[in-house]
Amino acid sequence: MASLQKQNNIHIDESLISRQMEFCKMNAELLLQRFGTRPKALVKIYGCQQNISDGQRIEGLLEAMGFDFCDNTEDADLVLFDTCAVRGHAEDRIYGNVGALKAFKARRKNRIVAVCGCMVQQSFVAEKFKKSYPHVDLLFGTHVQHKFPELLYEVLSKGSRVFDISGQGTIAEHIPTRRTGVKGWLPVMYGCNNFCTYCIVPYVRGRERSRNPEDIIAEAKEMIKEGYREITLLGQNVNSYGKNFEKPYSFANLLRDINALSGDFIIRFMTSHPKDLTDELIDALADCEKVAHHLHLPVQSGSDRILKSMNRVYTREHYLDLVKKVRKRIPDISLTSDIIVGFPGESEQDFADTLSLIEEVGYSALFTFAYSPREGTPAAKMEDQIPAEEKSRRLTVLSSIQEKISEQQNKKYLGKTLRVLCEGPSKKEGYLNGRSGGNISVEFAGDATLVNEFVNVKITEPLSFVLKGEIAE
Ligand code: 5AD
Ligand code: SF4
Repeated sequence: MASLQKQNNIHIDESLISRQMEFCKMNAELLLQRFGTRPKALVKIYGCQQNISDGQRIEGLLEAMGFDFCDNTEDADLVLFDTCAVRGHAEDRIYGNVGALKAFKARRKNRIVAVCGCMVQQSFVAEKFKKSYPHVDLLFGTHVQHKFPELLYEVLSKGSRVFDISGQGTIAEHIPTRRTGVKGWLPVMYGCNNFCTYCIVPYVRGRERSRNPEDIIAEAKEMIKEGYREITLLGQNVNSYGKNFEKPYSFANLLRDINALSGDFIIRFMTSHPKDLTDELIDALADCEKVAHHLHLPVQSGSDRILKSMNRVYTREHYLDLVKKVRKRIPDISLTSDIIVGFPGESEQDFADTLSLIEEVGYSALFTFAYSPREGTPAAKMEDQIPAEEKSRRLTVLSSIQEKISEQQNKKYLGKTLRVLCEGPSKKEGYLNGRSGGNISVEFAGDATLVNEFVNVKITEPLSFVLKGEIAE
């Protein structure tokens, strides 16, 4: 299996993980001595789906060390933050929340505070935690996540603080995973090679590396057996899946192979970079009956000048051509996107180009962000940074226009019956929430026995953020 890999990725599989499982056992004993009872962990996960998926592996390891889980800081013996570096706002919150744990630790000194994830992979952040947050016992980066048991063992057995942001290019297999909820996250690749000029991800998650298809398919089978009805394949850019393999095997091949597994489930994937969305992938999307008709295709900006400055390597025209092509092949596809406003140098005209692009495409939903300068990225050093008030003004304008577009787009579902995966109770008493194949939120009356089931819902009132409906016969 490892022979599929042509690059010098560090493949960490069963034999190396079994060493970590030994540390889990030793930790379980030390933890029992330390706390006198089964320890409780609180895990706080920030950021994207990739981080949620990483967090589930970390929780799997905690479970193997004998931890129960709690939602309340006061009940916790160990608090772990799985952090995100993508925007400054999340980082500020994390500094604040980790800082607030000083008193938590002071009240009972044997408690453990740990931080991991993208944000702490930046060496200046790790240094700051080391110097200014003395109550942090353990800090580890994205490349040594699989070594969490060993690192915690050092904390428990020696009483020392442990900081490790070493390593790179790892693919760790066979880590126990604690999955909860209806959504099944399945990482297919790690890292990113694209270096969009605003983005910190390539620096903190390293170069692209793909998991072997056998490992992914085995995990998908396991998830189906566990009862998952939605599997989302994750990668920063799934379109370059398999590029490091000796034998040609693409993301489209992977979609087809997972589609062929038996069971009643749907497949989603994210994220696709528009620069290398292939016809082969569009064909697989169209052919595979289990693959949801939803494509998240982040455009980031509608201005060629800004796209160039962002190093996105496609033009507005190329993007719009792709949209046409996809819609022609899969007419009922629902399209979503990420947009950054206030990138350095973004003029009123550039912003107007973004607005006209979103009108032209007609997305079902948008994820919108104000540009946030990230230390060490080229865009952070660019001239003509846009003032915060202007960024937030553009964000408001963009969101209000998209709200109307979503409302308009959603009208087409009036009177239609959609197959919806029921996710849980909605805020409204007696109602449930789910998602359509197009990934649009649907609300309908029903009882909790329907959670994690597919339900046919007839849409009676399509709004901009939700389709209201009723269970169809
Ligand atoms: N500022 C604002 N948004 C960003 N994103 C990534 N980096 C930044 C940044 N520095 C957004 C992009 C990406 C999404 C996951 O986060 O739109 O697609
Ligand atoms: Fe960041 Fe661009 Fe890579 Fe996405 S493709 S993770 S935005 S560098």
